[in-house]
Amino acid sequence: MRDLKILFENNQKWVEKKTSEHLDYFKHRSEQQDPLYLWIGCSDSRVPANEIVGLEPGELFVCRNVANLFPHTDFNCLSVLEYAVSILRVKHVIVCGHYGCGGVKAAMEDNHLGLVDNWLRHIRDVYALHRSELDALDDLKARYRRLVELNTLQQVLNICHTTIVQEAWARKQKLAVHGWVYNLETGKLHDLNCCYSAGEQLESIYKIKMG
Ligand code: CO
Repeated sequence: MRDLKILFENNQKWVEKKTSEHLDYFKHRSEQQDPLYLWIGCSDSRVPANEIVGLEPGELFVCRNVANLFPHTDFNCLSVLEYAVSILRVKHVIVCGHYGCGGVKAAMEDNHLGLVDNWLRHIRDVYALHRSELDALDDLKARYRRLVELNTLQQVLNICHTTIVQEAWARKQKLAVHGWVYNLETGKLHDLNCCYSAGEQLESIYKIKMG
């Protein structure tokens, strides 16, 4: 029970595969990371960030949590974003939601789950904000899918509203924030066609005047 032998065996095979393709694979990658992208995704085991977009170690900076949330006061999320934008200078931040998200489903229901209900509260806020659009969808599956999309879009906005992103734009750093949704059933990504790359795109109440 204590030794997870299979995982160490898998690791050994993986190391052999990588080094057979490129002898210095790990040495080369250990020297520095230079990712172009930050990925904010769900913890769901069916949504493996690097694999979905075909990127190697060192190419994708990742933050995953239940239902791919970016609460604007969450120190974990803010710390990841700051490091990615200000130090690593990623060019793109991608929020990737996914259809079939258990967190989003739980937020549409009234079951008492415990502590996680407080985390999922952020999704209930998204529902409340878009209640007329969502309630108009009689098909519950369609409503669920739309809430997955709206939740993703809200996290994109939360990221854009941070001082971190607004400061980057103010210093003319190239940075775009995208909203995507992953389909578990097909393996395909869908672009929600929301892309923010300048402070002018923000609603005025969220704009911060940078000195
Ligand atoms: Co999920």
